[in-house]
Amino acid sequence: METKIFKPNQISEAAAAIKAGQLVAFPTETVYGLGADATNEAAVKQVYLAKGRPSDNPLIVHVTGQATVEQYAQPLSDKAQALIKAFWPGSLTLIFKLQPGALSPAVTGGLQTAAFRNPDNQVTLDLIKEAGVPLVGPSANTSGKPSPTLAKHVYHDLNGKIAGILDDGPTEVGVESTVLDMSTDVPTILRPGAVTEEELEAVIGTVRSTHHKVGATEVPKAPGMKYKHYAPNAQVYIVDHVTDWAAALKWAGQQDDAIGIMALDHTLSGLTLPQNAEFFSLGRDLPSASHRLFAGLRHFDLESPVKGILAQGFSDEGLGAAYMNRLNKSAGQVHFTKDQLL
Ligand code: TXA
Ligand code: MG
Repeated sequence: METKIFKPNQISEAAAAIKAGQLVAFPTETVYGLGADATNEAAVKQVYLAKGRPSDNPLIVHVTGQATVEQYAQPLSDKAQALIKAFWPGSLTLIFKLQPGALSPAVTGGLQTAAFRNPDNQVTLDLIKEAGVPLVGPSANTSGKPSPTLAKHVYHDLNGKIAGILDDGPTEVGVESTVLDMSTDVPTILRPGAVTEEELEAVIGTVRSTHHKVGATEVPKAPGMKYKHYAPNAQVYIVDHVTDWAAALKWAGQQDDAIGIMALDHTLSGLTLPQNAEFFSLGRDLPSASHRLFAGLRHFDLESPVKGILAQGFSDEGLGAAYMNRLNKSAGQVHFTKDQLL
């Protein structure tokens, strides 16, 4: 099967494929998702096969508003409704208790809850409306690889395995949505994203977060968080925000192989890149770094192969929590130190 590229004026064709039980990748403001009719169990099962995703890792159900959530979930609390009002459409995924049997175990991974999100992308909202069904949508990458922020990333991973890709250009945010579990007594952040802990607390008061403690003792709450993620072929070394880039570049220059450098433009100003370094700019600030992180990791896999990648770390605040969560996973928690060995 050759995977078709649909342009935004071909939503009807993409919707027809969804209605026929086929898979179509769709754009969102965070990353591209791998869409299938959430009410068609056979189609949902194909999503796991195409991605190579473990079947105990549940999927997000993409909707165009609160009404669809109410068809499947138990009655929404005041807090849930306040969050929907404040952040939808947008980068917040909410987990609710389901009405019994409301969604296939293929969607929920057998849990009594499900994750819902109303993405902020008009093409995809039109697609969902035209298909007439909510769409499951994990990130449209091969399991374990960085999430796709361009249609060509999806094509690289899934060409021949899915019917089509609805191409709406680069995504804006670049890291996946914040996942907030509303099925527990205290709402709990399972995955940090562009909607920050502070922004959530401003609307509903105290939230708990499970993602701060990274390391061997971390117990993953979202089933997906226990798997190796976002890993390019080369080892990634995090250059912490307190670490000296001059030392890191010196180390890079001593290596026999090409080394990738991912940093903000101004971070390296005044420093000279060694001959064997390949630079991928993260732009001018944390939002641009988040927007470009996954594309940079893929760049060093596909376009400019290197033996190791030095990537700029940020402090773990606001959007920095989302960025560092992804970077830590891509690096397997490995941080640059002066006596690093490849
Ligand atoms: O920005 C995003 O969220 C993107 C776009 C396409 O919407 N989607 C995305 O989906 O990142 P995915 O499948 O790659 O990540 C969903 C995460 C996984 O870690 C999964 O384990 C968790 O949400 N999740 C889904 N349903 C859950 C549930 N009922 N309970 C706990 N965690 C759940
Ligand atoms: Mg994913």
